[in-house]
Amino acid sequence: MILSIESSCDDSSISITEIETKKLIYHKKISQELEHSRYGGVVPELASRLHAQALPSILSECESWFSQLKAIAVTNEPGLGVTLIEGVVMAKALSLALHIPILPINHLKGHIYSLFIEKEAAFPITVLLVSGGHTQLIEVESYRNMKTVATTMDDSYGESFDKAAKMMGLGYPGGPLIEKLALSGNAKGFSFTVPLHQSPLIAFSYSGLKNQVRLAVEANDISSYPDIAASFQRVATEHLIQKLKKYFKINPPKRFAIVGGASANLYLRERTSELLRPYNADLILSELTYCSDNAAMIGRAAVEAFRLGEFRDYRDLLVNPRCQL
Ligand code: KG4
Ligand code: ZN
Repeated sequence: MILSIESSCDDSSISITEIETKKLIYHKKISQELEHSRYGGVVPELASRLHAQALPSILSECESWFSQLKAIAVTNEPGLGVTLIEGVVMAKALSLALHIPILPINHLKGHIYSLFIEKEAAFPITVLLVSGGHTQLIEVESYRNMKTVATTMDDSYGESFDKAAKMMGLGYPGGPLIEKLALSGNAKGFSFTVPLHQSPLIAFSYSGLKNQVRLAVEANDISSYPDIAASFQRVATEHLIQKLKKYFKINPPKRFAIVGGASANLYLRERTSELLRPYNADLILSELTYCSDNAAMIGRAAVEAFRLGEFRDYRDLLVNPRCQL
């Protein structure tokens, strides 16, 4: 078995995965959403202290499996430096105490493997990763061969939901709150401009749209918030759809997946399904529980890392907050 630790942002999570069968033996996650909610976003130092409390309490439930562990997996990139270090320090201590190696796991690979929890992986696959930290289109051939073909020039899809929610005083995380508020709003109520709609670039940008939302919030009262939320969600998603359409013209999709916290958005799922219909391409999604950050996906990626022998000595493991794929 592999014990896996995730602490790249505001979720403390530990899982135990059986290597042969990929079975998820144990999984627990403690989210810090409530604690960060009053600030409208993640406060890194607070997140770090909360991981320092939550991770040992989760780990104490795993002691009966210690003798069966063959490796400790841990997210060491990318993420917040001060929170990644909490998971990495725990992984080093366990590696030293149990005399087993560490498997360093890239968080983005973890999100991609959230598609294959307790399943065989199937490649090639084109993946849209939409989270609080990332908006990327990735061509995945194998665990080691993943190529980012489009990325954001500034902010991410999920973060733009967080900021829009913060501007309207809704709380954190903004994604589910905006999605819910949008249900009672008119998505054509505000005519925000779709980012980069005239640009031939296949890239993403959310800073301009965030600014448009800010101006709308400042110029209107609370009765307009449902319309602002619905119009924002429509335009933020339309931006992804327009760029995917452009990309698909050159590279028609065969198998397509959306992963990351924001892949839970039902409007995005519907719009993407429509877009894929003429291509007869399957839309592959993770279970809702595994869309946002969790250690089950890190454990599933770790099974691949274990097979490939990507072991690291505890003395050589560093955190790489900015490293991408
Ligand atoms: O993957 P994740 O848990 O953490 C990162 O790796 O960033 O993603 C969290 C992000 C947050 O920005 C959150 O607002 C967004 O995913 N999110 C959503 C939805 N649920 C979560 N965004 C849009 N619609 C949702 N339903
Ligand atoms: Zn994530």
